[in-house]
Amino acid sequence: MLILGIESSCDETAAAVVENGERILSSIVASQVLTHEKYGGVVPELASREHLRRIVPVVDEALKKANVSLAEIEAVAVTEGPGLIGSLLVGLVYGKAVALSLGKPLVGVNHLEGHIHAVMLENKMALATGRTTEQARTPAVTLVVSGGHTVLYHVDSAPNTALAAPLFTYRRLGQTRDDAAGEAFDKVAKLLALGYPGGPVIDSLARFGNSSAVEFGRIKMKGNQLDFSFSGLKTAALYRVRGTALAAEAEQRRAWRKSAGRATADEVRVHCSQATLDLVAGFQNAVVADLVERTLAAAARERVETIFVSGGVACNSLLRERFGEAGRRNRLSVFFPPPSLSTDNAAMIAAAGYHKLRRGERADASLTAHASLPLGV
Ligand code: KG4
Ligand code: ZN
Repeated sequence: MLILGIESSCDETAAAVVENGERILSSIVASQVLTHEKYGGVVPELASREHLRRIVPVVDEALKKANVSLAEIEAVAVTEGPGLIGSLLVGLVYGKAVALSLGKPLVGVNHLEGHIHAVMLENKMALATGRTTEQARTPAVTLVVSGGHTVLYHVDSAPNTALAAPLFTYRRLGQTRDDAAGEAFDKVAKLLALGYPGGPVIDSLARFGNSSAVEFGRIKMKGNQLDFSFSGLKTAALYRVRGTALAAEAEQRRAWRKSAGRATADEVRVHCSQATLDLVAGFQNAVVADLVERTLAAAARERVETIFVSGGVACNSLLRERFGEAGRRNRLSVFFPPPSLSTDNAAMIAAAGYHKLRRGERADASLTAHASLPLGV
């Protein structure tokens, strides 16, 4: 089954063609970083307009790269939420129009379900090409960690013999009560004038800092220990900067960035003192330690041996390293998608949509977008 996937929930316009939910024929992502970077965050109105401008060429490019015509597409899977409503509507209405005009099945996909399936999609491709022999099996605990979400799920699948497609079930174990982890990276980078998005630049700069020079302490949670909270860390970073030499340095960097335009992480580093590098290293270390600790606690509580990690922050090198070590230490299998499938993309939407379509799920013309859309129970 050739599925056209469409994703436009935030600031990437994406389309992909995926065969049988397991082979990516094309995956095109048009990033809006240049549009939003001067604001240090996504501006919803600008995002919708960019999606409108890009959706048709992005879908065309995905078809062209996959070497298939629209007539050969057998179904359309489109993100229905959660996300920015104006952004979601662009992809959703376009996907709906394509499916209705071709008379092909349409299915709506939860964006978070897409991130979870990115892990299994990558694993299927790695198995098929001999890059791994280890199967990403459920039950698993999944951490979806991005600029919009930080949430832990228990994921399971019951084989559905009648329809030859497994039925996936999701149970939410915990989630952030305030900022998402990626949002905290972006806000700290904005505070220090390091660039946008903040995650990748902090990841690069932190390698040159001493994380134990700046202690952030552990994040304490009342109630559900599988919930997250990152706004305190962000405020702690603010207190370490406000009224100090680091604030003056950040203002100098802001002025330099304004005149220099786009800069690489190496160029930014030249404009950072050791104290700034230590601060970002300490901050990153605190975020990563918290993410790993709560995910391991979830795996222990749920008695599962498999962990999936997905979403933009899953690109973080320290996070990958720490999960790798923790997996070996605790005899857990940890699976990550590659960076291209960790950040928002449409291949993951097509892969998640495939299972729904195989089970006979169909959306009709009433399919609409939802800014918030919980996944599972
Ligand atoms: O999944 P994604 O593309 O979009 C959302 O659904 O939010 O994630 C983007 C987020 C941004 O906050 C970005 O700063 C963060 O992922 N990110 C990273 C890294 N690469 C991207 N955070 C930490 N380290 C990275 N290497
Ligand atoms: Zn996402």
